[in-house]
Amino acid sequence: MAVEQELRRRGGKQQLLGLLATLVLVLLPAMASGKDGVPRIKLSYKELLQSGSGVAFQGSAEGMGSQSLLLDEERGRLLLGARDHIFMLELENLNRNIRKVSWPASRERVELCKIAGRNAQLECANFIRVLHTYNATHVYTCGTGAFQPLCTFLEIGGREQEDAFYLHVSSAESGRLKCPFDPWQPFTSVLTDQYLYAGTTSDFLGRDTAFTRSLGLHDRHYIRTDVSKDYWLNGTELPAPLSCPKPNTSTSHLFI
Ligand SMILES: *[C@@H]1O[C@H](CO)[C@@H](O)[C@H](O)[C@H]1NC(C)=O
Ligand SMILES: *[C@@H]1O[C@H](CO)[C@@H](O)[C@H](O)[C@H]1NC(C)=O
Ligand SMILES: *[C@@H]1O[C@H](CO)[C@@H](O)[C@H](O)[C@H]1NC(C)=O
Repeated sequence: MAVEQELRRRGGKQQLLGLLATLVLVLLPAMASGKDGVPRIKLSYKELLQSGSGVAFQGSAEGMGSQSLLLDEERGRLLLGARDHIFMLELENLNRNIRKVSWPASRERVELCKIAGRNAQLECANFIRVLHTYNATHVYTCGTGAFQPLCTFLEIGGREQEDAFYLHVSSAESGRLKCPFDPWQPFTSVLTDQYLYAGTTSDFLGRDTAFTRSLGLHDRHYIRTDVSKDYWLNGTELPAPLSCPKPNTSTSHLFI
């Protein structure tokens, strides 16, 4: 789906239909050619095991429930967002020199989550769902925060400070409209030109799904698709988006 900046001014159902039409037009040629964005090799989990080329991450139980990854090929590292933790792994050997930062949801929030009848293990924790490169030294990250999403910066160091691995916990901000409340709800996001675009549910009950834009260098306010009583994005599945920033213009195209 192409999410354009015009959404800020206009919006509404008609525009969404227009965008959906664009989506179909965009997807059809891509599916027909089957060239772009299609991996050259695809292995199932079973095939990976059989090939003997897979390496299991044996970090710890904290690595369970991981839902976000960020590859830093240049520095040979992999960031892994998991339950209450972000891991930094070495690509050459996932099980050597494992580093991690802890980012749990507040105890109060966890209690409220349990009182609301949610599962203590599977839902009432901070599941990291957003990990994007922001600039040379910072990664932007968000977690579900036991149904109160939060976002902040993770400092990973530039060339001089290879060793930095520090989470700015105290300056965390609300992650609503950037990250889902529910760790298992479909969700997608991309960070481009220092704007974060997300397709996410926007409330505790997960009824309203929206496409949003946030962050950015100049205007740090949100834009989002309209709220509709018809929930026209009900049941949405959100595969990975692809961003195509247009150089020297104020428009970015996103294809989801
Ligand atoms: C990256 O962004 C962070 C947060 O805005 C900022 O503090 C930092 O100076 C930036 N680093 C570079 C290399 O631009
Ligand atoms: C979403 O769609 C499902 C069926 O696909 C329906 O049962 C449900 O009521 C819908 N939810 C809302 C909030 O409209
Ligand atoms: C785009 O911007 C860059 C730097 O701001 C400039 O060097 C370049 O000439 C511009 N290109 C066009 C097509 O305007």
